[in-house]
Amino acid sequence: MKIIPSSQVGRLIPDGASVLLTGITLGGYAEEAFLQIERSFLDCGHPRDLTLYWQASVGDMATKGLSHICHEGLLAKGVGGHINGCGKVMTEFCRDNKAAIYNWPQGVCVAMLHAIAAKTPGVVTKIGLKTFMDPRYGGGRMNAAATEDLIDLVTLRGEEWLLYKAPKKIDVTLIRGTVADERGNIAMTKEGYKLGQLAAAEAARATGGIVICQVERIVKSGTLHPRLVEVPGVLVDYVYVAQPEYHWQTAASQFNPVFAGDYKVPLESIPPVKFDIKKVMARRAAMELREGYIVNLGIGTPEYISAVASEEGCSALFTLSTEAGNIGGVPTVGNDFGCCWNGEAMIETAGIFDMYDGGSLDAGCLGFLEVGPNGDLNSSKKEGLGIGVGGFMNIAGGAKHVVFISSFTAGKPEYQLGNGELHIIRDGTKKKFIRQIAQISFSAEVALDQGKDITYVTERAVFKLTPQGLMLTEIAPGIDLQRDILDQMEFTPLLSDEIKPMPAEIFFETWGGLKAHMTKE
Ligand SMILES: CC(C)(COP(=O)(O)OP(=O)(O)OC[C@H]1O[C@@H](n2cnc3c(N)ncnc32)[C@H](O)[C@@H]1OP(=O)(O)O)[C@@H](O)C(=O)NCCC(=O)NCCS
Repeated sequence: MKIIPSSQVGRLIPDGASVLLTGITLGGYAEEAFLQIERSFLDCGHPRDLTLYWQASVGDMATKGLSHICHEGLLAKGVGGHINGCGKVMTEFCRDNKAAIYNWPQGVCVAMLHAIAAKTPGVVTKIGLKTFMDPRYGGGRMNAAATEDLIDLVTLRGEEWLLYKAPKKIDVTLIRGTVADERGNIAMTKEGYKLGQLAAAEAARATGGIVICQVERIVKSGTLHPRLVEVPGVLVDYVYVAQPEYHWQTAASQFNPVFAGDYKVPLESIPPVKFDIKKVMARRAAMELREGYIVNLGIGTPEYISAVASEEGCSALFTLSTEAGNIGGVPTVGNDFGCCWNGEAMIETAGIFDMYDGGSLDAGCLGFLEVGPNGDLNSSKKEGLGIGVGGFMNIAGGAKHVVFISSFTAGKPEYQLGNGELHIIRDGTKKKFIRQIAQISFSAEVALDQGKDITYVTERAVFKLTPQGLMLTEIAPGIDLQRDILDQMEFTPLLSDEIKPMPAEIFFETWGGLKAHMTKE
């Protein structure tokens, strides 16, 4: 192992290299290495034509993270778990076809680290079947520049599976830890999650590549307890010490010891969310959860559910988990996404996705953009822009109960809310319940085959998935069925024989009723 200044990183990466990295927001991400790669490319045109593999949203939704790599000629191909979570620059780079961009489910991306490391053909899974991952529906391609077949449909033991093909070569793996000793042993003590840095290092070594690691500090050999070492020095080729501004724990927090599991805080210190339409949706969605459930909350409106549960004194009734691998406590939101307050366990992200895919998740609450007549959803492509699925497909694919949450229309709808009723002052400019969705991110057919319980929660109506299509089951008090619901849809849903009012109690500023719902049979 050699200790280098970060300015040498660019020179260690050959033109045309396949580069593997770890990261969620800015956690576990070697920000300074990517800054140096960008500088080197802008200074001398090298390295260039890189292929990049990432697993999640990497960046601060502004200028950091994978924005550094989005230069024409520098990035030729990207395969990642999320697109717009890597920032506007990446989203527009994808839209403008400046590189071939593919989106894979986040759980597949993390499993792939192990697949490459173990030299298997790739990841074989049912996750993504009959969605845009399936080669019959798009093969994970996010733009016209993406022309390769990276996913095969295979039949094994008489059943259909998807084979996400492992790259044959990883030239460079770029990982991050907290501390390295002089022999390159890496500990992750200040990280907020475990992103599979070991498997990422093994993947490079298995295919003849090198491993570069960013750390905050180098300590003397022999001073790291062996149990703390997550990546052994024998797998690490180069280590550099980052400047503190390029070594943040998340995109929002330089270092919070609670996220690293060092302390717990009184939960009252988590601020309540303001009373608005998203809070109402989060309350109605939370009513689908039951005591004892293991739950994942996706990004966007579902994130509000943890704050609602905490405000309602229900956090201890169920167990929240994040796809980064944190279990228990209260998941963090926004640019801190993936960590948690007062967690009970921090397992490797691949382990939590095994839990999800294997069916240990009782409920997943996820956002969506569009829904079709049969209940198929788009949550990954918005007005031609690639959003990406993140953990959506694994969560929706693994959970027994899935609660999809979204406003009924998009485009700045205005509501009057309170006193137990909802009124639409001005509806959104764009319908979301439409005949033809832009991309299938969730297959209703597969979910029905698997016997899942699927609920669609909006601020004004609730639907259930049935074999015949979407069925309207609840309407908010104050809402007119024809004017506010049916006229705002491009198709007519099935109408339940017993359409109920959504509970008026959630349309008041203060509530206090969640516990009764969560503890009922
Ligand atoms: C789908 C997703 C974008 C919804 O996020 P959200 O914050 O709950 O949704 P919102 O309804 O506030 O929509 C976000 C924006 O998209 C717009 N939008 C929503 N649906 C739209 C549609 N069908 N067409 C056009 N715009 C739409 C909204 O108007 C809003 O715009 P604004 O920011 O200018 O106000 C989000 O859940 C997501 O990225 N999901 C995919 C990844 C995922 O689920 N991962 C889970 C585990 S990591």
